[in-house]
Amino acid sequence: MRQDRPAQPRRVFLQWLAGLGAVGALGPGFAATKKSAIKKAIPVSGEKIPVIGMGSWLTFDVGDDEAARATRVQVLQAFFDKGGALIDSSPMYGSSQEVIGHCLRKIQNKNALFAATKVWIYGQWLGIKQMEAARKLWGVPRFDLMQIHNMLDWQAHLETLKAWKAEGRIRYIGITTSHGRRHQDMERALAKEPFDFVQFTYNLVDRDVEQRLLPLAAERNIAVIINRPFDGGALFDAVRGKPLPAWASEFDCTNWAQFFLKFVVSHPAVTCAIPATSQVAHMQENMGAGFGRLPNAETRQRMIALYAKLAR
Ligand SMILES: NC(=O)c1ccc[n+]([C@@H]2O[C@H](COP(=O)([O-])OP(=O)(O)OC[C@H]3O[C@@H](n4cnc5c(N)ncnc54)[C@H](OP(=O)(O)O)[C@@H]3O)[C@@H](O)[C@H]2O)c1
Repeated sequence: MRQDRPAQPRRVFLQWLAGLGAVGALGPGFAATKKSAIKKAIPVSGEKIPVIGMGSWLTFDVGDDEAARATRVQVLQAFFDKGGALIDSSPMYGSSQEVIGHCLRKIQNKNALFAATKVWIYGQWLGIKQMEAARKLWGVPRFDLMQIHNMLDWQAHLETLKAWKAEGRIRYIGITTSHGRRHQDMERALAKEPFDFVQFTYNLVDRDVEQRLLPLAAERNIAVIINRPFDGGALFDAVRGKPLPAWASEFDCTNWAQFFLKFVVSHPAVTCAIPATSQVAHMQENMGAGFGRLPNAETRQRMIALYAKLAR
């Protein structure tokens, strides 16, 4: 059975209320000023993390290409310079973990790092070996968050992760899916076991999780990481060459990347999004979404309607 965790209905209610209030209302789950990054609390601990993190699928899988590695150092430097913390990777992403380790060694101001990776293999023993190898590749003393990738052999790995968390070898336990896959299985897993984090896909064209998974995560006090916030980059196709609406300035949004990311992280149950990029200029745009005001519930509906119209 899942361990009980303190129910915090008042906080969940206030978070939802923040989403319903005036444009830019930041409820008690938030902390932000114009100059500091917007942060949201991890429900199980209260620890606050910036709402914009970084993904690494494809973008950091550059192997030993020296020029590409040098650019990724700059991308990661821009991430930390703009107040970033959570980096997400996986053994599924080719050389990404090794490249992240290479970049981290070259970067000075990385104290805020919140290191999140995944286990993605059948078998508990092989999972242990994979997670130990990941720690060496990143060059970190321990991972803040270890997630079970795509629910693969999740019951076996959860046993290890519970023991490791109790020993202080990891700080949080998570589980992931994407592209709308296995949502019913995920619901059952979240209802039964004590996950601290869940990761799934949510963006302006993929909103299935609004129905059940996001409310369930809020109810169970589970932090939510959103993957594919740009639908793998496809969201940009419909808006290329089109101007932002004037009302985007009401929530401090200056480009389409921020429009897409502010939509995602303004959902009251979302803790952070992990856009991936291979470019410094894109990283700077994306990190800008973690500052200023966020859209309220009414504005979020307007954003959905506008995107649907542009994509028609
Ligand atoms: N099951 C799982 O656990 C799972 C599944 C999928 C993804 N994930 C995680 O989620 C992360 C994000 O998902 P994703 O990488 O699939 O897709 P994404 O973040 O939605 O989109 C990435 C694409 O958007 C482009 N992009 C980024 N910033 C941009 C900007 N400001 N302007 C224009 N284009 C921009 C990137 O191209 P440039 O390089 O040119 O910027 C890249 O092609 C992954 O990297 C991974 O860490 C996890």
